[in-house]
Amino acid sequence: MVVRESLSPLTSFLVGGIILATLYLLALRLKTRRARHKIIKQRGCEAPPRLPLKDAFFGVDGIYDALRAARTKTYLDYKRSHYALHGNTFSYKFSTLSVISTIEPENIKTVLSTAFKDYVVGAPRRNAYLPLLGNSIVLADGAQWEHSRALLRPSFARSQVSDLSMLDIHVENLIRTIPRDGSTVDLGDLFLCYTADVTTDLMFGESIQSLSRPEAFQTNLMRAFRDAQAGAVRRFRLGSFARFVPQSTFYQAVKQVHTYVDAHINRAIKQHESLKQSLNDSGREDERYVFLHELLKVTGDGEIVRNELVAIFFAGRDTTSALLSNLFFVLARNPRIWQRLRDEVNQLQGRKPTLDELKTMKYLGSCLNEALRLYPVVPASSRVALRDTVLPEGGGVNERSPVFVAAGSLVVFHYFALHQRKDLWGPDADEFRPERWQNEKASWVMLTHLSTSMICANAY
Ligand code: HEM
Repeated sequence: MVVRESLSPLTSFLVGGIILATLYLLALRLKTRRARHKIIKQRGCEAPPRLPLKDAFFGVDGIYDALRAARTKTYLDYKRSHYALHGNTFSYKFSTLSVISTIEPENIKTVLSTAFKDYVVGAPRRNAYLPLLGNSIVLADGAQWEHSRALLRPSFARSQVSDLSMLDIHVENLIRTIPRDGSTVDLGDLFLCYTADVTTDLMFGESIQSLSRPEAFQTNLMRAFRDAQAGAVRRFRLGSFARFVPQSTFYQAVKQVHTYVDAHINRAIKQHESLKQSLNDSGREDERYVFLHELLKVTGDGEIVRNELVAIFFAGRDTTSALLSNLFFVLARNPRIWQRLRDEVNQLQGRKPTLDELKTMKYLGSCLNEALRLYPVVPASSRVALRDTVLPEGGGVNERSPVFVAAGSLVVFHYFALHQRKDLWGPDADEFRPERWQNEKASWVMLTHLSTSMICANAY
């Protein structure tokens, strides 16, 4: 005899609901698959080579290798070896993300320019840096990004008309700190102090003055800057596994950086009203350019101001100091280039240059470009696909077919590997040769990189 037990109404409702939801999800998946298949067929997409990882689902071995390479300071070589083995575009898994890694200029141009609207900065960068940089321009997307740019544009615009005299005292401090007795000096540390001094002066109207107080380099604050930045980079490399590792040093450093910046902001907010009043009364403009004061003219929200200031501090300080360090590293090893640069500088006959004169110093410009090419201070970047889209190159056996990029995929580009491609730069791509910049055509490969860098200096 068969006993039929009827299901309770609640159970029937739940079971029915689960079945319907499953069917709905399956239908949705099928629809997505069909739509993707159509794009792949229409655009002639082919898959790029796949990075062979032991853990094909989450790429845990890849994450472990990347962290180990970072710890042993061989990360760039580690990444370069992937391009050498698998070509200029390849794919892999990184925790739950599908990644496409590329050093094809056309692909980078597509992501950052022609198909800009198909991509966002996305969760990987945002999650890693949010505790430090908040909702600032470097983590923002869409309307929020446009809002940040509109907010910052007037402050950057005023900085461009300012003269170079603000830098004088810091350059003098820098030169004074370099020993004259022929002893060895680590210019890298001094440049980091120099850019910290300049950036804080420019941002707050009050420099941290680490060059005139060498012990300041070892202060908690300087350590906090370093730990906060290093912690955020590590969080990015760990991806969604970051939450499983201890991060107290990172959070303490972030707190210290914020406390330092907040103190300046709170003081400036208090001063702002009285300053505005006195400027109105006297009918003149605030003479000394201070980024924080410019920002307070457009918003009085302390948190917004702090986020943008911290982001600009980190975007501006390390990039500039790394560029200076790299440039002097190569100049110290190239007496011919050093002499040619000195000849150009000597045309000033000991005078300080004006901004316009600086812009006409062609060989200096070529040396800076070449240092940025060989040692890009922003060595890599990435974007997440907002919708299904296509990269123009990198698929198939010859790597010339378009590559399908599913919504949610991370596209990573490594400038340090792109800038050393011999097929693009010639057989001497590994060499520091500023003269290559005197040939205008040489600059197109860097265009994609530099056009974004130019945002920092010019586009505001
Ligand atoms: C050698 C010097 C520099 C280089 C090579 C450089 C490079 C770059 C690059 C490649 C990006 C785009 C990153 C991305 O993919 O999202 C960027 C963004 C940015 N940089 Fe720089 N940068 C330099 C100096 C500076 C300085 C001095 C400042 C500020 C004082 C600055 C502020 C910014 C800001 C605010 C952004 C975000 C722009 C946006 O999303 O609209 N950078 N930089």
